[in-house]
Amino acid sequence: MLLQGKTAVVTGAGSGVGAASALRFAAEGARVVCADIQGDAAQDTARQIENAGGAALPVTCDVAREAEVEALIANAAAHFGHVDIVFNNVGVPTPRLGATLEEHTADDFQRLVAVNVGGVFFGCKHAVLQFKRQGSGGVILNTGSVAGLVAWGGAVYSATKGAVHQLTRSVAIEGAPFGIRANAICPAGMPYTHFMAAGGAPADAESVARMAERTAANHPLGRPITAEDCAQAAVFLVSDNASNVTGVLFPVDGGYVAK
Ligand SMILES: NC(=O)c1ccc[n+]([C@@H]2O[C@H](COP(=O)([O-])OP(=O)(O)OC[C@H]3O[C@@H](n4cnc5c(N)ncnc54)[C@H](O)[C@@H]3O)[C@@H](O)[C@H]2O)c1
Repeated sequence: MLLQGKTAVVTGAGSGVGAASALRFAAEGARVVCADIQGDAAQDTARQIENAGGAALPVTCDVAREAEVEALIANAAAHFGHVDIVFNNVGVPTPRLGATLEEHTADDFQRLVAVNVGGVFFGCKHAVLQFKRQGSGGVILNTGSVAGLVAWGGAVYSATKGAVHQLTRSVAIEGAPFGIRANAICPAGMPYTHFMAAGGAPADAESVARMAERTAANHPLGRPITAEDCAQAAVFLVSDNASNVTGVLFPVDGGYVAK
């Protein structure tokens, strides 16, 4: 029970890494605020936590809108009395996976920046404000990507993740005197979440299996990354076991970056 007595806010909690982390945090004793732009999906994750005997609050929130993120943190504090952990996990792919830089429209660019960078900026900002009001520190975790650590194309998405990484490290430095830690997990290819379908990839079982095979071949450990792999890393980084760990970009990548 690594997170006993803590309250955690998780964005993108309706699917993939966010859902797996919300469930894992709850299994470790946290009360979890499950936020997602898809309210039904957030409710579904919260229901699973409650059915397992945990405490959860579903919130519909678009992380690209500051007022909604501010309300999310306020809501979490009002409902559970305190906020200890904010996991800014939302990220969206380019609307057409494989699109080159010049194939991105201005709208594609603005949307990727608004959600992937704006969402993390608003999440960090309102977490820091809440932690400073509370006066007892706090923990921020962001979801970056190996795409922000090495280059394989995907220029616009990768640039947003590079920005997430640098935001994370800078917030770690600014927050350290206040007992605020900030780290990021950097996953490699996860074919089983909804991310690739959100980028227009086919989601039928055969296509996903083919994608999983290709992804596995890229990773020295020989298998794709799962949402649960990320959730396990997330639990460590937000727990007191990592109380002297901050500013870290933590690959969850089967050795992809080391290669
Ligand atoms: N899947 C991969 O291959 C991969 C690789 C590296 C990094 N990542 C990163 O992992 C994170 C999680 O992705 P995933 O694979 O679990 O994807 P996913 O699509 O399964 O889950 C993303 C969730 O975020 C929600 N969401 C989207 N836009 C939102 C918004 N504006 N406000 C609030 N919620 C919103 C979606 O409704 C969805 O429930 C993202 O930051 C992504 O960039 C994914």
